[in-house]
Amino acid sequence: MKKTVGVGKSHSKIILMGEHAVVYGYPALAIPLHQLEVTCQMTYMDMDVLWSMEYLEGVVSEAIRSACAYLGTYDWLNLVAEVRSSIPEQCGMGSSAAVAIAVIRAVFDYYDRELTADVLEDLVNQAEKVAHGNPSGLDAKTCLSDEPIVFRKEVGFETLPVELGAYLVIADTGLKGQTSQAVAQVASLGQEGQVLLSQLGDLSEAFIAGLAQVDLSALGGLMIQAHALLRQLGVSCLEADHLVAVAQEAGACGAKMSGGGLGGCVIALTDTEVAAQAISQKLREEGAVNTWIERL
Ligand code: PMV
Repeated sequence: MKKTVGVGKSHSKIILMGEHAVVYGYPALAIPLHQLEVTCQMTYMDMDVLWSMEYLEGVVSEAIRSACAYLGTYDWLNLVAEVRSSIPEQCGMGSSAAVAIAVIRAVFDYYDRELTADVLEDLVNQAEKVAHGNPSGLDAKTCLSDEPIVFRKEVGFETLPVELGAYLVIADTGLKGQTSQAVAQVASLGQEGQVLLSQLGDLSEAFIAGLAQVDLSALGGLMIQAHALLRQLGVSCLEADHLVAVAQEAGACGAKMSGGGLGGCVIALTDTEVAAQAISQKLREEGAVNTWIERL
């Protein structure tokens, strides 16, 4: 039985450590961000709908198409998605995976069909692949999880409590991130890139292992080293480098770019909420177009 309106929801994510290295099998640590959400309402329009090419080639239509194909229905051209999102696009916060999740949930809700976690993840990755190339699966996994996760491509994931009693400041450089271009650029580096990726992998392992000690300056030091390696890989940008330096000068234990890069967000680790607010303020004064504070 079809409903009048199907509803779906998702939250965003941010990568703490391991972007790019994760594409090559090294671990990445990412956390869900419940403060940034996307919702989708799905309705049926019984007439010809004129879609733009941008819509037809985008993640929303891919998500509707993959969900309808799974359900064995050919209505997908008549399903209209109204998507509301507080997640900035192309910013390293998983907006496209989150949108795909909300849309697929809304399609299943519209048809009043059960959606298992495995099927959802599979359909999200299908939609992301068509719309964005070859994602590692980290974004989808973290947007589907309520807990921080350690993700290893082709091995799997585990949830990992992150209880540092600390704060993460997230700052948007205002430049759109270019994940697929950055991933292609890293691939073109050959052997030189592999050495840097393996070092990044070691830093992720050390960060994950170090969480239990709750030593913020040690963890921050690993973030700073990771940022330097990401710069060497050529995936940072002047704006991100500047904001990382600003966060460190403002007293952060560590800071780095997050996500695919060539734009997008930086993250900074600090111990108290007051310090997080001061760093956030400084980052805004120095060019960040938006900031968020997340308890870690
Ligand atoms: O830009 P984001 O947040 O989608 O993160 C991309 C992370 C990469 O490791 C660069 C790519 C991937 O598929 O994991």
